[in-house]
Amino acid sequence: MCGTVGLFTGCAAAAFCPVAALRRDGAATPGYRSPFAAWDRSASVRSSPRRVLASTELDLFPEDLVPVAGHPVVGRLRPELRRRLLTQQLHRYLGFTAKLEYLVVNHVVLGIAHGSIEVPVPDEMRFDALRIYTDEAYHALFSVDLGRQVTARTGIAPRGGRPFFLVRLDALKARHDPSLAGLVDLLFTIVSETLISATLTDVARSTSVEPSVAALVRDHAVDEGRHHAYFAQYLRHLWAALDAGERRFAACLFPELIDVFLRPDTADVGDELLGYGLSRDEVNEVLADTFDEQVRASYNRATAARLLGYLDDVGVFDDPRALDLAREHDLVPRA
Ligand SMILES: [Fe+2]
Ligand SMILES: [Fe+2]
Repeated sequence: MCGTVGLFTGCAAAAFCPVAALRRDGAATPGYRSPFAAWDRSASVRSSPRRVLASTELDLFPEDLVPVAGHPVVGRLRPELRRRLLTQQLHRYLGFTAKLEYLVVNHVVLGIAHGSIEVPVPDEMRFDALRIYTDEAYHALFSVDLGRQVTARTGIAPRGGRPFFLVRLDALKARHDPSLAGLVDLLFTIVSETLISATLTDVARSTSVEPSVAALVRDHAVDEGRHHAYFAQYLRHLWAALDAGERRFAACLFPELIDVFLRPDTADVGDELLGYGLSRDEVNEVLADTFDEQVRASYNRATAARLLGYLDDVGVFDDPRALDLAREHDLVPRA
């Protein structure tokens, strides 16, 4: 402990410590091009109205984006159960968004804005972190707001339980020294902020969904496009500040963090289908057919393509172990 510890405690501070950074030689400070020049006019929190659920007659989530909905066994469910399935997927998405924003991302961007994450960044980049903090707080607000409207109008409440990514993120942190938890959250935030745009765009483009849902997701996607551009650059600043051991730790964690963010909670989906009256055998058939490992792997590769490019650019896959782990997670072709 050298007295510069902020958000992080113990030895993990070394990764973010300006004193340690002074010991690292040679690395040029990366530049920064702010994606937030038009933020005051274009941020959702400044320019978009509250999204109000206009109708409960239309689908509340695009059916083609609910993976199990296309399975013939699920197709035989009564119309009101199919409707419940789509509504629960919207609740799942809104709960995921709100908790991602206020339990993980906003802790990290506050650390960047406040300076307690001591990765050296340009002053403009620190200020922009405060804009992201504001955006994410609004995303949590509009997600909780719409979820409450859905429950009030349909009588269908969220199923409850913690989002799967949080359960797995906690399990991952538990395998490492507690002092590294802050660094893990920072790496996870880089992952989630550079993957999320693709996920959101799929929903925002849907023409079959209730308009306020599509509008809300579009609001989110536009903001996240700026966040994506920010964190692609932040990765370079972080990498320049890490020493060889810290880079090895981070490099080997990225493939699993991508999996933590993207892997669906099949157990929860299975429980939901059991609740609709499907037998255990039918549920197993639906899950096995829908979440086929090859389909999932190709989806993950496509969704993570840009992030994998950024990681490659800074040299993450120069580490043979990191490359092996990326292959094990089917993020790059196996040798
Ligand atoms: Fe967000
Ligand atoms: Fe974001």
